[in-house]
Amino acid sequence: MTQRLRLGILASGGGSNLQVIIDHCQEHGFPAEIAVVIANNPDAGALERAHRAGIPARCINHRDFAGREAFDTALVTALQEAGVQLVVLAGFMRIITKVMLEAFPQRIINIHPALLPAFPGLHVQQQAIDYGARFSGCTVHFVDGGVDTGPIIIQAVVPVLPEDTADTLAARILEQEHKIYPRAIQLIAQGRVLVEGRTVTIDPPAAPQATALVNPSLKN
Ligand code: GRF
Repeated sequence: MTQRLRLGILASGGGSNLQVIIDHCQEHGFPAEIAVVIANNPDAGALERAHRAGIPARCINHRDFAGREAFDTALVTALQEAGVQLVVLAGFMRIITKVMLEAFPQRIINIHPALLPAFPGLHVQQQAIDYGARFSGCTVHFVDGGVDTGPIIIQAVVPVLPEDTADTLAARILEQEHKIYPRAIQLIAQGRVLVEGRTVTIDPPAAPQATALVNPSLKN
């Protein structure tokens, strides 16, 4: 079997995205494996999930460092020690500095619970509702120097429903996150993801599943 891509997963919270990545990596033939899970917060559920799966996991607490760059230097050391080839941010609530970007150029990906470039930043499900958007969704993108600005790899769209709260919309989006994040990792691990400027090409192409979505419906 060919070498599997070694992932380093960074998380701050519950780690449901980490869990689906663990599950996929355990499937026969998935082209990636998790080398290490790192949380910046000792209470992160992600650490517990990694322990349960027998995956190396550690906490590097950002509060123990004088600044963002010192924290990122410790992250880079831990990731390099584990032989990580792709850094996967899975609910990681820290801003990445150039220390990480230079150590892993175009090798850091993030998942964001909105359809970028709409609604970067925080509390984005509430923002989509408050704006009156008819659709939201999720985006997997490469990380660059900005906040949620890097080249887009894959997106999934969900409708915003009249009765939605931030929580119900977040749950609908999360269901799709769990599908697109493993898929993005698979495509990268297969060497099918090419980046040129802002444009990401999938080679060979994988056509979208839908032609158009309309909300509210054209009928009734
Ligand atoms: C997800 O909605 C992700 O898009 C955002 O943080 C949340 C993390 O959820 N960046 P989990 O920890 O993977 O369950």
